[in-house]
Amino acid sequence: MTQHSRTTGFDVLRDDATKRLAGADVIVEATGMFTTSRRRATDFFGRSTRAIAAAAADLQAHHVLLSIVNCTLPVVQGYGYFAGKTVQEQIASDVSPRLTIVRSTQWFEFARQNLERMRTGPFALVPGMTIAPVALDSVAAIVADVATGLRTETEVDVTGPETMTLWEMTRSLPDRGVVAVPLPIPGAMGRAFRNGALLPTADAEVIGPRFAEWLEGGAAAE
Ligand SMILES: NC(=O)c1ccc[n+]([C@@H]2O[C@H](COP(=O)([O-])OP(=O)(O)OC[C@H]3O[C@@H](n4cnc5c(N)ncnc54)[C@H](OP(=O)(O)O)[C@@H]3O)[C@@H](O)[C@H]2O)c1
Repeated sequence: MTQHSRTTGFDVLRDDATKRLAGADVIVEATGMFTTSRRRATDFFGRSTRAIAAAAADLQAHHVLLSIVNCTLPVVQGYGYFAGKTVQEQIASDVSPRLTIVRSTQWFEFARQNLERMRTGPFALVPGMTIAPVALDSVAAIVADVATGLRTETEVDVTGPETMTLWEMTRSLPDRGVVAVPLPIPGAMGRAFRNGALLPTADAEVIGPRFAEWLEGGAAAE
């Protein structure tokens, strides 16, 4: 298995993906760029996934795309990042001849990620969201099963076992290192986030551990 990102010298927006990924039977696409700007998100996810899907087509490789449960719902499209993910899923579906989309709910790690992304000086904003978070390790195990052919679905939705708010998760984190400030997002989209628009349907596969067990295991330490 070879990992590629800018850290290893591969920029998906600039470099020739077909050349760089030559020999791959499976390509797992898990690139990301955090932004709330619709223009920047659709530009990044559109261009990155077009490059990966075209490489997968050239190489006749299986393309496994990591996405987010419910990110394509109309009510959340005002959130630029989700608009970008929607474009990404659409392009991958159009271009990739052999695609599996693994969608997960927000990861346990997302609580700390959010503090880093939403930080201004000593404060960090925590958007009002009701979610069913899941451990990244558990999602990765499912991605591995899809990549190795142990699972053959073309779409898999994965969720954690409990519903909670991002605020509750944030408050449980050890060593936050920043003052967390709740941010109720205004309007219909904010209400949708708070009222559970990001919660999965009953069809989603539920995987542990629970958030408290994950915290007890020390995985949340910085
Ligand atoms: N975080 C969550 O809770 C969550 C939940 C469900 C699904 N997802 C999805 O899972 C994927 C990964 O999420 P994440 O939170 O880990 O994203 P992330 O932290 O924003 O970025 C993931 C990786 O993308 C690489 N990358 C960024 N720009 C690149 C470029 N131009 N060329 C090559 N590589 C580039 C980065 O490595 P370098 O800096 O080395 O380039 C980074 O390791 C995303 O598609 C996200 O939507 C995330």
